[in-house]
Amino acid sequence: MALRNCRNVKVLDITPVGQSPRPDEFFELRLERPDWDDWKPGQFVMIRPVDWPMDLLWGRPFSICSGDAESVTLFVQKIGRGTARLSELKKGDTVAMWGPLGNSFAVDATRPTLMLAGGIGIAPFRGYVEQHPLPENLKLFFAHRMAIGCYPYQRLSGAVDAECMMEARREDLAAIIERMGELVDQYRDGLILCCGPTPFMKTAQKFALEAGAELYVSLENRMACGVGACLGCVCKDGKGHHTQVCTKGPIFRADNVEL
Ligand SMILES: Cc1cc2nc3c(=O)[nH]c(=O)nc-3n(C[C@H](O)[C@H](O)[C@H](O)COP(=O)(O)OP(=O)(O)OC[C@H]3O[C@@H](n4cnc5c(N)ncnc54)[C@H](O)[C@@H]3O)c2cc1C
Ligand code: FES
Repeated sequence: MALRNCRNVKVLDITPVGQSPRPDEFFELRLERPDWDDWKPGQFVMIRPVDWPMDLLWGRPFSICSGDAESVTLFVQKIGRGTARLSELKKGDTVAMWGPLGNSFAVDATRPTLMLAGGIGIAPFRGYVEQHPLPENLKLFFAHRMAIGCYPYQRLSGAVDAECMMEARREDLAAIIERMGELVDQYRDGLILCCGPTPFMKTAQKFALEAGAELYVSLENRMACGVGACLGCVCKDGKGHHTQVCTKGPIFRADNVEL
């Protein structure tokens, strides 16, 4: 398969940001920026180190977390074989990267906007905050399981109104859900964006549908090609039709997708 916009790029930096007891579980990967058009927050890239063995055939998708004229930064949680191998990359290694892919988060500077982030789902919101024309109109609610220092939360909390809740014990979940409900209700006339584990997005979807709020969810289905060819990533839209998350998403209006 020929991939338009696929470039070999160098690793500029790889920085572990995890904390005890799993210090290497999270890392920031800064890659050389190819000769792309501009990317928009919510878009993603597929990456595949050039020396990956055949048992790791496919690239892996990651939200663009941040970037500048020279670089693209991804924020990665190690959860399986591919991300474990990515965590072993060294400065100067070569990675094939294709993108920027997919659609992007809605931006409306005039409307109060609530960002609901669960765990690694915080990654695309760093770019969203950095590029937003009126960050004082943004509110971040972040629910997480690992220590807060594992995530790029501090960078965001310095720039926008932010609050976080840790799910350290099972009992914490009820309080997180209750707070999400309050916030969705409060932002029912604004814009609400959500990225996180599926149960987290389902909860946001339920509250938004009840409140009649405009919510967008960013899906993290497994992907192989990222460009609409393999059908490995399909979800069902609001009418029950199969649709590719990589090309029609990853962001969908919550009233038009089955989670
Ligand atoms: C549009 C998009 C943006 C993403 N952005 C980020 C990001 O910014 N940072 C980040 O760390 N991850 C992100 N992900 C998820 C990331 O792509 C997966 O964690 C990664 O592909 C897993 O690869 P692996 O080889 O390590 O895991 P595998 O060995 O393939 O799988 C290990 C385990 O993880 C599960 N798994 C695999 N893929 C996913 C997935 N997409 N979601 C949930 N569980 C999965 C598998 O079922 C299995 O149980 C994103 C995914 C998508 C589709
Ligand atoms: S990942 Fe191949 S069609 Fe979406």
